Amino acid sequence: MTQLSSETLLKAAKKYKTPLFIYNGDLILERYNDFFKFIRLKKMNSRKSNLRILYAMKANYNPEILKLLKKQGAWLDLVSPGEAVLALKLGFRKEHLLFTENNMTNEEMHKIRKLGILINIGSLSRLEKFGKTYPKSEVCIRFNPDVIAGEHEKVITGGDLTKFGILLSDLDQVKNIVKRYKLKVVGLHEHTGSGISDMNKVFQSIQNLMNIATRENFPKLKFLDFGGGFKVQYHPQEIRVNYAEFGLKVSRMFEKFCRKYGRTLDLYFEPGKYIVAESGYLIVEVNTLKKNKSRLIAGTNSGFNHLIRPVLYNAYHHITNLSNPDGKIRKYDIVGNICETGDTFASDRKIPEIREYDLLAIHNAGAYCYSMGSLYNLRPMPAEFLYANGNLKMVSKRMSEEELIEKIFKD
Ligand code: LLP
Repeated sequence: MTQLSSETLLKAAKKYKTPLFIYNGDLILERYNDFFKFIRLKKMNSRKSNLRILYAMKANYNPEILKLLKKQGAWLDLVSPGEAVLALKLGFRKEHLLFTENNMTNEEMHKIRKLGILINIGSLSRLEKFGKTYPKSEVCIRFNPDVIAGEHEKVITGGDLTKFGILLSDLDQVKNIVKRYKLKVVGLHEHTGSGISDMNKVFQSIQNLMNIATRENFPKLKFLDFGGGFKVQYHPQEIRVNYAEFGLKVSRMFEKFCRKYGRTLDLYFEPGKYIVAESGYLIVEVNTLKKNKSRLIAGTNSGFNHLIRPVLYNAYHHITNLSNPDGKIRKYDIVGNICETGDTFASDRKIPEIREYDLLAIHNAGAYCYSMGSLYNLRPMPAEFLYANGNLKMVSKRMSEEELIEKIFKD
């Protein structure tokens, strides 16, 4: 696996202001290509694969990352009109985009339709409104797979306690709406959760969707979409899921499904985290050390405005001391500069001794970090850099406080 060396990270941090994000473009491509290595599918009488990888751009929408993936042939999973506008601006073909709605407004529905992008609908109420407004149109339908899985309760999307998808038991109602408005259902979709480690749950979701994807229920299908949720290793001791094994089994299941359906459909997945998480680092500088009774606190120049996963999901992010890697191991609370007690990257973390002005690298910061960032406390987002083919390129800049205020409050 292509990891960036500490030297590369240190050099970048010393040259540019911290905090900063660095992404390893080579690893992003490696992760994208993993899917084609593991899931070997072929269209009948053709050498072309019928696997489509729709990168979930919510994980990291930096345009340079999107361009890199586009060059490799990636398609995109979109969840907002903003993402749709960016994808089209970058030259993605509308046929390569799927808009997964969630509590979409009528205005959003019209906008996405006007852009010519297929909509994936996740409620009976929206399906009814869509059918009424756009009868005889193509549509994709999102079902709730009735399987509960994911690495934190806040990222579980299956099961009847979540807001996502249409219940499998509402199939008859779906069919009624489809019939009433002569809709052409070209795709069925499910997404179970994020960071799923139990592959049996994934197979169960896939099977549950396949069970209703019969020719009798949906005769015009072109694809089945099994969402994202592919796990990456955040803690060094976590097991890596064997995706080669997963790929073999999924290919067999899908081929069997296609034989039964009587036609070769396309198989879609929508990975976000798996493609970009491991590629990214947030580099921060420690500026204040404090001893609070038994605790050693290392205060940095970033916070949950830049990387919220530890606060929101209790997520573990590995942290290394770039400037003192051989220091004596000690225990620290590594915290940010936001005016909130919860602003913590790690608690009781063992790490080589931290000195003031040491540079720390927070690992696995490529997915859902910058993209979930905010302007809380009116602090600008860090600059982002992309490392590819031995070159480091700035791919978004850090605004000064003055630029930020000008941009937001301009009248
Ligand atoms: N497709 C759909 C319909 C989704 O809702 C999601 C993620 C994905 C694909 C991509 O899932 P992934 O492969 O990235 O797991 N912010 C959380 C993750 C939230 C995921 C939301 N939906 C985190 O940082 O763990």
